[in-house]
Amino acid sequence: MKRIALLVFAAATAACVTVSMPFTAGGADDEGSPVYGVKIPAGFREWSLINVAHEAADLNDFRVVLGNAVAMKAFQDGTLPFPDGTFIARLAWKYVPSEENNAVFGRAQSFVTGAPTNLEFMVKDSKKYAASGGWGFGQFTNGKPDDEALHKTCFPCHQPAIRHDLVFTRYAPSP
Ligand code: HEC
Repeated sequence: MKRIALLVFAAATAACVTVSMPFTAGGADDEGSPVYGVKIPAGFREWSLINVAHEAADLNDFRVVLGNAVAMKAFQDGTLPFPDGTFIARLAWKYVPSEENNAVFGRAQSFVTGAPTNLEFMVKDSKKYAASGGWGFGQFTNGKPDDEALHKTCFPCHQPAIRHDLVFTRYAPSP
């Protein structure tokens, strides 16, 4: 029994690795974001779930916010400010109806992820990024950093979340 469980686990792990490979970047030659020099961290798809959100209107997306181990501990313990070494990722995809699921439910109620839109990171390094509240920001489309003008908007727009160390997302407890 134990052996079967192990085999299942091994197969599942292998499947995860295969699925996540196209998303796992982070080589030494990757380009960093303008202003901050934040690179896509290797293995971010394996980070833990902080929360999910849906933006309507022009964005019309689903977004998932993931954190590395340092981030998860801080979210769970309510530690503020977030410690150096905190990495937070925001992954987004188009919000599209699922005909397959709707056929099962018998009405138009199901929405799933469509094409990926972009990838964002916030990285805490209180010395390196002292001028932006200790956070480095990076947004990537198709694996490439977006332009400098866009990166100048990150820090000011996150100011309203100053009481939560510039992070809007809160930890979603398990159902
Ligand atoms: C128009 C204001 C605005 C701008 C500009 C903006 N953000 Fe955000 N950001 C938000 C809000 C609001 C959220 C939370 C809701 C959401 O996820 O849509 C958020 C969420 C995030 C998150 C998840 C952690 C958190 O704070 O909740 C990351 C990472 C992030 N943004 C990175 C960036 C980066 C990188 C840039 C610049 C390239 C940027 N943001 C620009 C408003 C903004």
